[in-house]
Amino acid sequence: MFEVRNVTVRFGSTVALDDVSLQFSPGEAVIVRGPSGCGKTTLLRVIAGLTVPDTGEIWLQGSQASRPDFILPPHQRNLAFVFQEPRLWPHMTVRQNVMFGLAVLRPSERAERLALVADNTGIIDLLTRYPSELSGGQARRVALARALAPQRPLILMDEPLTNLDDAGRRDLVAVVRRFWEEEKFALLYVTHDALEEIPFARRIIRLDRGQLLTDEERGNQQIHALC
Ligand SMILES: Nc1ncnc2c1ncn2[C@@H]1O[C@H](COP(=O)(O)OP(=O)(O)O)[C@@H](O)[C@H]1O
Ligand SMILES: [Mg+2]
Repeated sequence: MFEVRNVTVRFGSTVALDDVSLQFSPGEAVIVRGPSGCGKTTLLRVIAGLTVPDTGEIWLQGSQASRPDFILPPHQRNLAFVFQEPRLWPHMTVRQNVMFGLAVLRPSERAERLALVADNTGIIDLLTRYPSELSGGQARRVALARALAPQRPLILMDEPLTNLDDAGRRDLVAVVRRFWEEEKFALLYVTHDALEEIPFARRIIRLDRGQLLTDEERGNQQIHALC
């Protein structure tokens, strides 16, 4: 189980998250929606250990990962993050960016995993390039590949398909779906755009001004209509 327990985050007089509690299970896909500035990115950052909660706790699979006076470092949380900006490491090639999280695998497995992820995300022809040599859409594909490659049990995606055209977005939503169905990671997917929804997620939570407004299950009918 992944848990956000009564988390409040303040920046000066701004309350970015206001006593937010949320639980989700391994293998569950959850959409996080809400207008710009409502706290979506802060929610992901606090789960990832990049922001310290002022009150409350984060629990990841039975371990306490954050409280106001303790932060388990982000790289020890066994999760992946797709940021709002692709944020690729500029001094590494695409191949190195994607392989970075694969150091624990045997070399033959590393190559196999890279090939699978690169093929699915459509970046095989880009592997020797540096991030400065990519278009915005290509960089998004690489950022997605980098997050999918290490098979973490939790992936946080913060508006990962912004600036892609409709075809690219549809293509990458299908990629996320394929990996999610195969590999059963928990997925928290932030979007403020109805077009950018992942149609296979059953659950949608909505934030407004730092508060968790609604937490709904989508019915099968709604899911079929979207797919
Ligand atoms: N590092 C920061 N310093 C000051 N204010 C911040 C910081 N990060 C976020 N905020 C503020 O917290 C609120 C929530 O921001 P954010 O989580 O980025 O919203 P969203 O991702 O939903 O657009 C906004 O009012 C934003 O301006
Ligand atoms: Mg944001």
